Amino acid sequence: RMKLAVLTSGGDSAGMNAVVRAVVRAGINQGCETWVVREGYEGLVRGNIEGFQTGPSRQPHTEVKVKNPNLLDNLGFGDGELLKDGTGDLPSGRTLKGRYIVRVGWDDVRGWMGEGGTLIGTARSKTFRTEEGRLAAAFNMVKEGIDALVVCGGDGSLTGADVFRSEWPKLIATLKDQGKISAEQAEEHGHLRIVGLVGSIDNDMSLTDLTIGAPTALHRICESIDNINSTASSHSRAFVVEVMGRHCGWLALMAAVSSGADYLLIPESPPEEDSWEDAMCGKIHRHRDVGKRKTIVLVAEGACDKNLKPIRSDYVKEVLEQRLGLDTRVTTLGHVQRGGKPCALDRILPTLQGVEAVNALLESTPETPSYMIGMCGNKVKRVPLMEAVATTQAVAQALKEKDFKRAMSLRDPEFVE
Ligand code: F6P
Repeated sequence: RMKLAVLTSGGDSAGMNAVVRAVVRAGINQGCETWVVREGYEGLVRGNIEGFQTGPSRQPHTEVKVKNPNLLDNLGFGDGELLKDGTGDLPSGRTLKGRYIVRVGWDDVRGWMGEGGTLIGTARSKTFRTEEGRLAAAFNMVKEGIDALVVCGGDGSLTGADVFRSEWPKLIATLKDQGKISAEQAEEHGHLRIVGLVGSIDNDMSLTDLTIGAPTALHRICESIDNINSTASSHSRAFVVEVMGRHCGWLALMAAVSSGADYLLIPESPPEEDSWEDAMCGKIHRHRDVGKRKTIVLVAEGACDKNLKPIRSDYVKEVLEQRLGLDTRVTTLGHVQRGGKPCALDRILPTLQGVEAVNALLESTPETPSYMIGMCGNKVKRVPLMEAVATTQAVAQALKEKDFKRAMSLRDPEFVE
C-alpha cells in the first residue's frame, strides 16, 4: 500500500489547495495512505516533534520548543479547525502544532477547491538546499513510512525534487550506516517515487503550456487594468502598470493582449531600437493623436533593454511625463496578483493533474524517470522532470546571454520568429 505525501513549495499560487485535495482523494481512491507536509520542504526537514502531545484545540501550546516559534505560531492548522472529521491519525478537533507531516483523510480536504493560497503552508526552505537538510527530510519520511511524494511548486522547488530523488539511494545508505534506520527500512525505502506539479503564477516552466495559478493571476491583472482604465480615462492620464513574472513576460504579454495596452516591455523581447523611449513615445503620441484619453504601459518586473539593463517603472513614468507631458502614475500590482480564489481553470488543471500525478506514482519503478505533470496541446501530459528543469534553466541561461531566439525556441520548439 503506497504511502503518499503531498507538499506545496516556493511562492504560493491559486490552485495549490485544489492540488492537495485532488492528490489526497485520488490517492485514497487508489487505496493509498495519504499525508500532507506543512510548510513545504521545511516541514519535511523538521518532521514531527518527538513526544509532542496533541491536545484539544485552543489550548496553550507552550510546551513546544522549537528554534523558530514564529513559524509555528503562523501555522494555518493551529486550532485544528481545518482538519475536523479527520480520518487520519488526528482525531477531530485536535491541534496539529508541532507536527509537520500529517496523515489526512477524505474529509480533511473538503471545501479546499475554491480556497486561495495554500492551506498547508509553503516556504522557501534554505535547509533543504543542504545535504544535511535532505538527509533529515529522508529520515522523517522513512520514520513515517512514506514512500511517495508529490511536490507542487515552481522551477526551484521542482529542481529540489529532482535532486532529492537522484540523491535518495545515497541518503538511505547514509541513514543506515549512521544506524538511524534499520536494514529492513533501508531495503523497503530503496526507491523514492516522486512527481512534480507546476504551481507558479509566472508560467515560466518549460515542457508545459500552462502552470497552476497563472490563469488566476492573469485574470486578476485584467480586472485591475479594467479598474485603472476607468480612472485613467476620467483624468486622461497615463499609467505604468508593473506586473509579476520574475524573468518571464507571459503574464505581462497576455495581460497586454487582454487589455489592449498601448505599450509592453518584457524580458524576452527587449526593444531593439537604441532609444526604445523614442519608439514608445512615438506610438503613444500617435494613439493620443487619434483621440485616446488614456495610456497603459505594461512593464514585466523582469523587463530590460537590449543591453540587459533593467527597465524600471519609475523611469518609464519619467519618460512619459517629460517627453509627452502626460500626467502619469505607476501602479505596481504586487501580491494581489497571487492571492485570492482560483478561477475555474485553476481548479480544473489541479484536479486533472493531481489524478495523473497519483497514477504516475503508482506506476513508478526505479527504472522510470521522475515525472512532471504538465499540459501540452490542451492535454494532461507526463514529461520527464529532469528534462523540464534542465530546459527551464537553459532558457534562463539563454536570456542571460541575450540569445532571445534560443530562449524562445527552447520554450516552444515550434517557435517561429
Ligand atoms: O514566482 C512567483 C513570484 O510571485 C514572482 O512573480 C515574483 O517575482 C516573486 O514570486 C515574488 O516573491 P515574494 O513573494 O517572495 O515577494
